[in-house]
Amino acid sequence: MPATKKVALVTGASSGIGAATARRLARDPGTELVLVARRGEVLAEMAASLPVPTTWLAADLTRPEAPDLVRAHVEQHHDRLDLLVNNAGAAWRGTFGETGWANVHRHMELNFDAVLRLTEALLPLLRRSAPSAIVNVASTAGRVSRANSGAYSASKFALVGWTDALHLEEAPHGVHVGMVLPGFIPTEGFPQAELHGKPLTRLILGTPEQVAEAIHEVGPGGKAERYVPRKYGIAASLRILAPSLTRRVLGGGSAKALTPAAGERND
Ligand SMILES: NC(=O)c1ccc[n+]([C@@H]2O[C@H](COP(=O)([O-])OP(=O)(O)OC[C@H]3O[C@@H](n4cnc5c(N)ncnc54)[C@H](OP(=O)(O)O)[C@@H]3O)[C@@H](O)[C@H]2O)c1
Repeated sequence: MPATKKVALVTGASSGIGAATARRLARDPGTELVLVARRGEVLAEMAASLPVPTTWLAADLTRPEAPDLVRAHVEQHHDRLDLLVNNAGAAWRGTFGETGWANVHRHMELNFDAVLRLTEALLPLLRRSAPSAIVNVASTAGRVSRANSGAYSASKFALVGWTDALHLEEAPHGVHVGMVLPGFIPTEGFPQAELHGKPLTRLILGTPEQVAEAIHEVGPGGKAERYVPRKYGIAASLRILAPSLTRRVLGGGSAKALTPAAGERND
């Protein structure tokens, strides 16, 4: 008997964690994929390379019209939605003193507002297809803030707080809501060049494929949250249990190893 059709939509599928997630989900029998990002030509290539029915939509998710465009695309080409992976995101480094509210706003637009607006547009479809799931790709930076990335952390802290509430609100509707909190994962937008360059700090890096596996555990697998690599959960716990120690570590030598120069785009 053919496997039941399951439609999964991945935002930010043109590179890094999103691309690895699309490849991971494509291994499940009966999967149909919808890929969303701005670079249509990259999505077209990815779609052609995947072994399951895949459509794609080039959209800037910060644009006002994007949520309606995505919903119309899913309704027209797939008629249901079983999994939404809110993964598209970015970081622009800089202290608040240097980059101000404008940088916070820029992060909130993409990493928070765009996620909520897309989720709002797709929630009716997800409820109609229940049991279904939403996975929000947050960050360990949504639990622990570092110098030079306060704007990024603010957007991910907001995402984490909202995800916890949505988890409780949507359970009665059959929509499982979970999140993945990656640590340092070298990708196109987050090269982690400085950490990669040193044998010791290289040990703390994860891979997009590990994050994709965690997204699979949270979405189809029904877990509520996963740190990737798992040991990053220790940093999040220490922030609550030993705040002074955490501040000392982040303000001292090890922070310098984890803090690239201001002005770098993502890291
Ligand atoms: N890598 C890490 O160390 C790390 C750690 C913690 C959390 N994360 C989170 O993981 C997620 C994926 O990041 P990644 O590491 O895979 O980075 P990445 O390789 O730079 O991928 C980011 C994706 O988001 C898409 N995107 C960016 N702006 C967009 C927009 N305005 N509209 C639509 N799509 C947009 C990009 O595609 P286009 O350029 O084609 O639009 C790309 O596909 C992000 O939410 C990030 O915050 C990453």
